[in-house]
Amino acid sequence: MTARLAILASGRGSNLQAILDAIAAGTLDASVVGVFSDKPEAPALQRVPEALRWSRTPKSCGGRAAFDAVLGDAVAACAPDWIVCVGYMRILGEAFVQRFAGRLLNIHPSLLPKHKGLHTHQRALEAGDAEHGASVHFVTAELDGGAVIAQARVPVQPGDDADTLAARVLAVEHPLLLQVLRLAAAGRLAERNGQAVLDGQAVFTPLPLESTAT
Ligand code: GAR
Repeated sequence: MTARLAILASGRGSNLQAILDAIAAGTLDASVVGVFSDKPEAPALQRVPEALRWSRTPKSCGGRAAFDAVLGDAVAACAPDWIVCVGYMRILGEAFVQRFAGRLLNIHPSLLPKHKGLHTHQRALEAGDAEHGASVHFVTAELDGGAVIAQARVPVQPGDDADTLAARVLAVEHPLLLQVLRLAAAGRLAERNGQAVLDGQAVFTPLPLESTAT
């Protein structure tokens, strides 16, 4: 059965585009049933037909909790199987996380648990990390704190700045996200007691990026 994906995005939307391209190419058995943003001007919204776009500002909803509730109702109305945060730059509150528990995914540009939050590339450089990368994880109310499903690693190279490192990470983010979404769409992925579960087995070590994933 084709998986229904609701996408949450605040920015550029290159990860969303990778999802759309994979669906179009027939390499991801899914459909995007809505793109939701806290930023009405987000370029990500422009990547889908107008009928699939939803945006509100938290201010227009009367604050963060009210925004989360309105967002949650709009997401639920699309009946998604999975809710996927791709560059969604707001923290989701406990009520939203509980409502969609077990089917809420995020991609984060670091090797979690390292560098939760913002400015991950700069922080990896400042920490002198030899390796950096991206993680796909289940979302909990703790910022970037949920169970990690898969990680892609890249080397930090001499002369890197935050931009060159971000570009190297982004190139592995797209296939990593698709790899996880294929597992999700195939019904192979679940969250149980705060742990990622693949084919019924707990994922103790994040899955590596498969070389075949594109
Ligand atoms: C990606 O690098 C994603 O990992 C990051 O924002 C970027 C969005 O790019 N997400 C976060 O930092 C979440 N904390 P995109 O809009 O081109 O997909």
